[in-house]
Amino acid sequence: MDETPVAAPLAPDWPALRGLMPSNVRIGTAVNGQALATNARYRAVLTSDFNAVTAENAMKWGQLQPTRDTYVWRASDDLVAFAQENGLAMYGHTLVWHHSVPPWVSESWSAEELRELLKQYITTVVSRYRGKIWAWDVVNEVLDEDGSLRDTIWLRKLGPDYIADAFRWAHAADPDARLFINDYGAEGRTGKADGLLRLIRKLRATGVPIHGVGFQGHLQWDKQPVDVAGNLQRFADLGIPVAITELDVRIQLPMTPEKLARQAMLYEHMLAACLAVSTCESFTLWGFTDASSWIPHNYPGYGAACLFDTDIRPKLAHSALVRALREGRPGAAGG
Ligand code: XIL
Repeated sequence: MDETPVAAPLAPDWPALRGLMPSNVRIGTAVNGQALATNARYRAVLTSDFNAVTAENAMKWGQLQPTRDTYVWRASDDLVAFAQENGLAMYGHTLVWHHSVPPWVSESWSAEELRELLKQYITTVVSRYRGKIWAWDVVNEVLDEDGSLRDTIWLRKLGPDYIADAFRWAHAADPDARLFINDYGAEGRTGKADGLLRLIRKLRATGVPIHGVGFQGHLQWDKQPVDVAGNLQRFADLGIPVAITELDVRIQLPMTPEKLARQAMLYEHMLAACLAVSTCESFTLWGFTDASSWIPHNYPGYGAACLFDTDIRPKLAHSALVRALREGRPGAAGG
């Protein structure tokens, strides 16, 4: 393994989040494969602060099946093994996502062929990790901002039933895995959240094995989603578990103490919303350190979105979560 020199001491000298969370709520993070393989401090903090992991990219279709005849399991298998060795729950992300359809999949193929391909893919991946993944994001970002179904290759070629089919295939491959629908922009009361609620009601009414709804939570420091706890509760009221699946809070650079304080409040606000809903099963961050966050690449001019800085030292947001969890009333600072 190619190790980067570690400047700061390896062992974390702050209270670990995983030790403070209620025992029925997991605290997770997306894992960056490169950082995991090369940075000992990254691994130390990952395993001390968190008890669940999601592959940031390693389980996406484009990575797993780069050509029609080739599956490449290495990165994904390594992470699953790492999770097992370190007692971390593994969250599978993601089976059907319009951004990760491999380039060799062609819309000119027949509906029948595409349907068979999707079924094969889902069956292959979910079976491989049967019993090792507690929850799968079966479909990711299938809604548009107005709450209607997103225009994707699957909707165009297979019609709206592809969603129910994907859940059924995944369930057949691992009947014990919790199957989630996951989306962004539905954390607060938005048109998309309303559409998501309608879609889930419909799927449940027809007996589709859907067991959870994931709220990504890619937030911006100066925008607080409206009534997150109340919105999550609407879903919980359907009798379905909910989860925060990809939280980060990007800051428009330059970073200032005021922006970091607002960021800390938003992190705390989201944790409070999750803990206020009795079926909220996990609270997952989209990366824990600014050293390997996706934000600077995907949102030019923004950065510093994580709980830990580029040296993997805890930021204000981390101490805000620690304080809130210790006081047993996270969210006091939120709205
Ligand atoms: C992102 C990764 O973080 C990036 O490294 C990659 O280039 C693109 O995907 N919603 C999701 C995640 O469901 O899979 C995305 O992850 C972030 C947005």
